[in-house]
Amino acid sequence: MHFQNDLTRSLNIRFPLIVAPMFLVTNEEMLKASMEAGIMGCFPSLNYRTEGQLDEVLKSLNKFLSARAGQPGTYAVNLIVQKSNPWFEKHLKICIDNKVPVFITSLGNPKTTIEAAHAYGGKVFCDVTNLVHAQKCFDMGCDGFIAVGQGAGGHAGPYPLAILIETLKNAFPDKPVLAAGGIANGKSILSVLAAGASAAYCGTRFIATPEAGVSQEYKNAILDAGMEDIVMTDRISGTPCTIINTEFAKKIGTKQNWFERWMSNNPRTKKYFKMLIQRRGFNWLEDAVKPGNYHSLWCAGQSVELIHEIKPVKEIVDEFIRETEIAYEELKKMTT
Ligand SMILES: Cc1cc2nc3c(=O)[nH]c(=O)nc-3n(C[C@H](O)[C@H](O)[C@H](O)COP(=O)(O)O)c2cc1C
Repeated sequence: MHFQNDLTRSLNIRFPLIVAPMFLVTNEEMLKASMEAGIMGCFPSLNYRTEGQLDEVLKSLNKFLSARAGQPGTYAVNLIVQKSNPWFEKHLKICIDNKVPVFITSLGNPKTTIEAAHAYGGKVFCDVTNLVHAQKCFDMGCDGFIAVGQGAGGHAGPYPLAILIETLKNAFPDKPVLAAGGIANGKSILSVLAAGASAAYCGTRFIATPEAGVSQEYKNAILDAGMEDIVMTDRISGTPCTIINTEFAKKIGTKQNWFERWMSNNPRTKKYFKMLIQRRGFNWLEDAVKPGNYHSLWCAGQSVELIHEIKPVKEIVDEFIRETEIAYEELKKMTT
C-alpha cells in the first residue's frame, strides 16, 4: 500500500510523515535517520548556535542527501522568524548559502525567508494556529502550512486539529496542510489524512528515540507521563508552551508575574524583555536536557499518553506505516 500525494511527490518522501523540529532534541543524527527512513526530518537552526556549527551540519546533510540521490527522503530547517530571535538573519544567510531544500517558519513574519528560499527553488511552510496568521503567510506566498492544533508539544494551538485542517483547506484549497499535535500512531496519521491534511507532523513521539540529543531522564519522563501531566507555561519564552508538570515546573509556576507581564506588554520594553525571558528559558531548558540535572523542565505534548517505548527513528517510521495501513483496512471493513 502506498500513501502518496502531491506533497509527498514534491518533497520526495515515501510516506506523508515529518519528524518535527524540536529545540535541543532534533539533531543531525535524527535528520539522517529520517532521510534513511525515506521521510523528512527537521531541526530548529537554534540547535546549532556555536560559530560555524550550523554551516558544518548543513554541509554534512547536503552531502548525505546527494549520496542518496534517487532515493526518498529530505530535510528541513526551522527558523524562528520572531523579531526577538537575535540569530535569525545570520542563520537565514547560512541556510540560503547552503540551499536548504525546505524551511519551516514559526512565530512571526516569514516574508524574508520566503523570498530568499524561492530565489533558488527552496520551499517554505509556515507554522499557523489560526486563519488570520495563515492568511498573512498565504499573501506572502508560502508553499503550505503546518496546522498546529490542541495538545501539540511546544507552542500548541487553541483549536482541535480536525477543525483547523478543514478551515485552512476551505480557505486555501491548493495549499498543502501538514497536521501537528497529538499524533503518535498510525490511527492518528490516518485521521489527519482523512481530515484533509497532506502529511502528519510529529514531534513528541520522536523524543523517545536513541538518536534524540537529550538525557535518559527526559526520555524516561516521556514514557512515564500521561496526558494529564502536560501543562502550558508562559514562563519559558513568553509564549505559552507545553511542559511536563515536574516538581521544578511547579516551583517556577506557569504564569508570568505582574512585572513580567507589564514589561512584555509595554511597547518600549517588549522586544528586549522578551529576549531576556527567552535567554533565561533557553538556559533552563539547556540545563534540563543534560544528564543528571535536577532542573527537570521538559517540553512535551499530550501524546506522551501513547508513548511507551524508546525506539530508533526508523523503527517508529516503519511501525507508523504498518499501523496506518492496518487502520485503513480496519476502516474499510465498516463499509458494505
Ligand atoms: C521538545 C519540543 C521542542 C520543540 N521545539 C520547537 C522549535 O524549536 N521550533 C518549532 O517550530 N516547533 C517546536 N516544537 C513543536 C514541534 O515542531 C511540533 O509542532 C509539535 O511537536 C507537534 O506536536 P506533537 O509534539 O504532539 O507531535 C517543539 C516541540 C517539542 C515537543
